[in-house]
Amino acid sequence: MASNKNLLMLPGDGIGPEVMHEVKRLIDWMDRRRHVSFNITEDLVGGAAIDARGTPITDATVAAAKSADAVLFGAVGGPQWDNHGFNKRPELAILTLRRELGLFANLRPAIVLDPLVNASTLKPEVVKGLDIMIVREATGGIYFGEPRGIETLQDGQQRGVNTEVYTTHEIERVARVAFELAAKRQNRLCSVEKANVMESGLLWRQVVTALGQREYPNVELSHMYADNCAMQLVRNPRQFDVIVTGNLFGDLLSDLASMLTGSLGMLPSATLGAVDSSGRRHALYEPIHGSAPDIAGKGQANPLAQILSFAMLLRYSFDMDEDAKLIERACTNVLASGLRTADVMAAGCAKVGTHVMGEAVIRELDKQAA
Ligand code: IPM
Ligand code: MG
Repeated sequence: MASNKNLLMLPGDGIGPEVMHEVKRLIDWMDRRRHVSFNITEDLVGGAAIDARGTPITDATVAAAKSADAVLFGAVGGPQWDNHGFNKRPELAILTLRRELGLFANLRPAIVLDPLVNASTLKPEVVKGLDIMIVREATGGIYFGEPRGIETLQDGQQRGVNTEVYTTHEIERVARVAFELAAKRQNRLCSVEKANVMESGLLWRQVVTALGQREYPNVELSHMYADNCAMQLVRNPRQFDVIVTGNLFGDLLSDLASMLTGSLGMLPSATLGAVDSSGRRHALYEPIHGSAPDIAGKGQANPLAQILSFAMLLRYSFDMDEDAKLIERACTNVLASGLRTADVMAAGCAKVGTHVMGEAVIRELDKQAA
């Protein structure tokens, strides 16, 4: 039967293709055992696209992403593409997709699974059971604001400029995603900016406050300055449920939060666009880890973040919460059984590579679906 689920896979560079391969096997499993099939197209992005086509992402790839139901992204970048110039850097692939598809809400969970409580550099009693969701605005702020550029002044000095800018609409739509998520979780939302220094932060605080009063009076809303938030995330991370913040602060705070879990190789993310009149939305899913050029091609990478990104894809793009949970549970059980890739290796565990880890997840799924 032809599938109505169109998936664009963009494995990218470094470990991207290796970890994506394990998702392909998982998709085969779903086809066989759950009778769910996907129409998969695959394309090049990042350094791989620079090598083959001279650009980190082509217009045709962007068009394919727009017509797909969901995009599963791997990772881009590596030292061999560092000197291709600012306008040809591999990172432009992901930035272009966010902008062109209007993917404004970047959901970055930081979850400490029980079997990995000792992987954190923080004490187990501080991070045990941690479950935070950071909602980062991803198409605005200083990443995309104008004016921007490097200019040469009359005295020969140069001047680099970027602009932090947010409109009411941009703030409201990302805050709405965060309020909705909070309402389904512990009902607490913390909005983060620098309203003490920046006008864009002041507007952010005013807009989020008004939206909360108007549409989400039952969600407990608090506000925090971004620097304090960084400190609080390390001091007592479990005080947070959902955090909503702008693009740059979200970039920093989500890296910080992910390391509370001690295992970058474990964390997925989703970036969502607006829901259109037919109920569809553009969406892209990617692991938080990068392309890890140092271990690329060695079969050592942890495939779980890519697999868990696929689980998020099932949940948010296809409303397949049950299948998402099945996969998430399988990953936790495999870790609980003592298998570990190098990045989360612990005493008394068995160290395995990418393929064995992917295989173990499938065997666990077999067991659960039996
Ligand atoms: C991220 C990354 C990207 C960003 C880079 C690769 C452009 O750090 O997704 O957090 O800064 O947004
Ligand atoms: Mg980042």
